[in-house]
Amino acid sequence: MRTPLIAANWKMNLGPEGGLALYREVRRRLQGVRGVEIVLCPPFVTLPALAAARPATRSNIALGAQDCHWASHGAYTGDVSAPMLRPLCEWVIIGHSERREGHGESDALIHKKLHAVLDAGLRPILCVGEGRAAREAGETASVIRGQLLDGLADLPAAQVREPLVVAYEPIWAIGSGQAASAVEANRVAGIIVRAALSDHYGEQIAAQVRVLYGGSVTPANIADFLRQPDIDGALVGGASLDAASFAALVKAAQ
Ligand code: 13P
Repeated sequence: MRTPLIAANWKMNLGPEGGLALYREVRRRLQGVRGVEIVLCPPFVTLPALAAARPATRSNIALGAQDCHWASHGAYTGDVSAPMLRPLCEWVIIGHSERREGHGESDALIHKKLHAVLDAGLRPILCVGEGRAAREAGETASVIRGQLLDGLADLPAAQVREPLVVAYEPIWAIGSGQAASAVEANRVAGIIVRAALSDHYGEQIAAQVRVLYGGSVTPANIADFLRQPDIDGALVGGASLDAASFAALVKAAQ
């Protein structure tokens, strides 16, 4: 029922020139691939080059930003707003742990950003994930539930039904080479993320929202995650920076 989605988070890698080269190579390898949604999220400065290079119609590769500001415009030095991104991409990653931790982003701020993304007609990939200490203290469920429900707060069901994607990214698994076990990730995606969505919006919407796993996903482990009933794809960092490995991830989801 839910179309698989493989999203690449390039993080702070690849300016316009390098990004365009990787984009072209990814596109060549994924030509004609259907049945899986593909999203590339380059740095802000690289988005225009990719947006200009893609065919006007029938591209099977969507573009996304890695963050945006909650306001539409104004005196916010160094920031980029959702309406500014609208002509360049379709998706925006919100609440990545590297922003929550590195930039002190709170659930309240992330909530405002979600509003901004949806109001601009873009689609959010809302990231949630617990740190190692919370995990070891047995607090995974309460952390994830809090991030999700405080992030969504008063967003109406009609606004999240179609566009919302949630990425479960345990912080201890990101960039560590040590992915969560697929069974464990599925447990979080199902009995924590989907259960919270169901309490908040009802079962039907909880069954429609796609939940991705992120954290050291590679071509060697992707199949284990995709086999899980509550995991609908992946948000990929390191392995998305190589065209062959990213193409392999997408093809595994096909
Ligand atoms: P890695 O795939 O490099 O672990 O990064 C995951 C991530 O943070 C994607 O947003």
